[in-house]
Amino acid sequence: MWKIAILASGEGSNAEQIVRYFREKTLDATFLIISNKTDAGVVRRATNLHIPIEIFLYQQFVSGEVTERLRTFNPDLIVLAGFLLKIPDNMVALFPNKILNIHPALLPKFGGRGMYGMHVHQAVKEQGETETGITIHLVNEHYDEGKIVFQKAVAIVPSDTAEDISAKVRVLELQYYPAVIHNFLKTNSRN
Ligand code: GAR
Repeated sequence: MWKIAILASGEGSNAEQIVRYFREKTLDATFLIISNKTDAGVVRRATNLHIPIEIFLYQQFVSGEVTERLRTFNPDLIVLAGFLLKIPDNMVALFPNKILNIHPALLPKFGGRGMYGMHVHQAVKEQGETETGITIHLVNEHYDEGKIVFQKAVAIVPSDTAEDISAKVRVLELQYYPAVIHNFLKTNSRN
């Protein structure tokens, strides 16, 4: 049985897709969703999916309280799915090579502090890029700098707005993130 903790701050569409993927394949997995926002879409989705969700304050992340909670849960993998707080060093240290993040661009371009959600797609548009995509990577002490596990690109045409770019990236995220997580677990953890 795999234990997967998902950290999410936003709408939660990636979190939901991951849970549905594991259920549809009847994979033996237990989920815990952690959020820092009481009013995030992910809270509603977790409830609808009957997945336990726990909400923590920013200070509890920094202080190590959430790390302690995760130590108790003992996950095979921690998945960041639109989680917007920086992962504290105490969590990275306790779970080396066990935290995956999805970034909505082709890192190392368009990464770092402040680069999340539509900010990324607007920057991609402003730079006149001809392609964008997704990057799934391990999390280390530095924003968006951990080892890259998977990337997939998609073409941008000049008439694409930032919203169009976001929609193209969203398709890739929902299509690939769950399978990459599954594959990572098969390769890197027990069972
Ligand atoms: C996703 O597009 C994800 O790549 C992005 O936030 C969105 C969350 O959507 N993450 C980042 O920008 C991290 N730097 P969701 O809540 O519907 O899954």
